[in-house]
Amino acid sequence: MKTLITDMFGIQHPIIQGGMHYVGFAELAAAVSNAGGLGIITGLTQRTPEALAAEIARCRAMTDKPFGVNLTFLPTVSSPDYPGYIKAIIEGGVKAVETAGNNPQKWLPALHEAGVKVIHKCTSVRHALKAEAIGCDAVSVDGFECGGHPGEDDIPNFILLPRAAESLKIPFVASGGMADGRSLVAALALGAEGINMGTRFIATQEAPVHEKVKQAIVDASELDTRLVMRPLRNTERVLRNAAVDRLLEKERTLGANLKFEDIIDEVAGVYPRIMQNGDMEAGAWSCGMVAGLIHDIPTVKELIDRIMREAEGIIYRRLAGLGHS
Ligand SMILES: Cc1cc2nc3c(=O)[nH]c(=O)nc-3n(C[C@H](O)[C@H](O)[C@H](O)COP(=O)(O)O)c2cc1C
Repeated sequence: MKTLITDMFGIQHPIIQGGMHYVGFAELAAAVSNAGGLGIITGLTQRTPEALAAEIARCRAMTDKPFGVNLTFLPTVSSPDYPGYIKAIIEGGVKAVETAGNNPQKWLPALHEAGVKVIHKCTSVRHALKAEAIGCDAVSVDGFECGGHPGEDDIPNFILLPRAAESLKIPFVASGGMADGRSLVAALALGAEGINMGTRFIATQEAPVHEKVKQAIVDASELDTRLVMRPLRNTERVLRNAAVDRLLEKERTLGANLKFEDIIDEVAGVYPRIMQNGDMEAGAWSCGMVAGLIHDIPTVKELIDRIMREAEGIIYRRLAGLGHS
């Protein structure tokens, strides 16, 4: 399938794997790229620019297809070494960067000069328009359903995507709630040029996370996520567990007085414990409502091939047939 996004990134299928902390290692990125999508290494999971350079080299050894790097610009005081990470990306010959969080404007000239295409992740039309105005090549539009940080507007993709289509000139992919061929066709119908998936890619054979994480996603329904950190305006959609219940109880009790320090035990440093050790009650970890549509743990190639087969079936058989009544 050819779309503006497959052309932009030089990939076969319009499917991107979003950056995921402690999930987006070279193994997953390479598997997605080898299956014809765009795999993404999560930059900040690598503690230093040198570690990112090594991860890029490791991914390069596993695939000769294009892959990207996610750089999340955190609203923290002690900022990571972003210039170092940008240098590692450029020197590693990576041609796709998924930015997220704060405005990436400062980094665009260097990336563009090196021939890197930048897709910025946005949770609102106004942020997507801003990304377009500062020169991003594409945007990833994350609806309220998404795992991770859905922003504070709470607009689901059935509204957000067509609003983005009405407003944007640059291409965009639909992100949040995407799982299968139905999602892809719906996203295309709503104006997107492809899809970005997070949670769905965790429940795959190649995702380098503990089996208990994959099983938790398969076992979860669409009712099992919760929004945490809303009082801090840093809302995150996570899978419900005992730590999340504790965190929400603190939010209820402390109300407007809640500070980050109050919930540090439930959110800080929990990703390696969950993703690598399978310590499922260690804290809050991002997971989308789409868990309700995830029932198996296929290989990445089986998943992507199935999505494309299903999407083409819907377009050429089901939908094309509706025109001849
Ligand atoms: C476990 C997990 C960790 C994530 N970590 C990041 C991250 O570090 N940076 C980022 O930009 N997005 C992150 N995301 C968001 C994903 O890239 C993607 O936008 C989101 O998962 C899409 O929604 P879906 O889960 O419904 O597919 C994460 C998502 C998950 C599920």
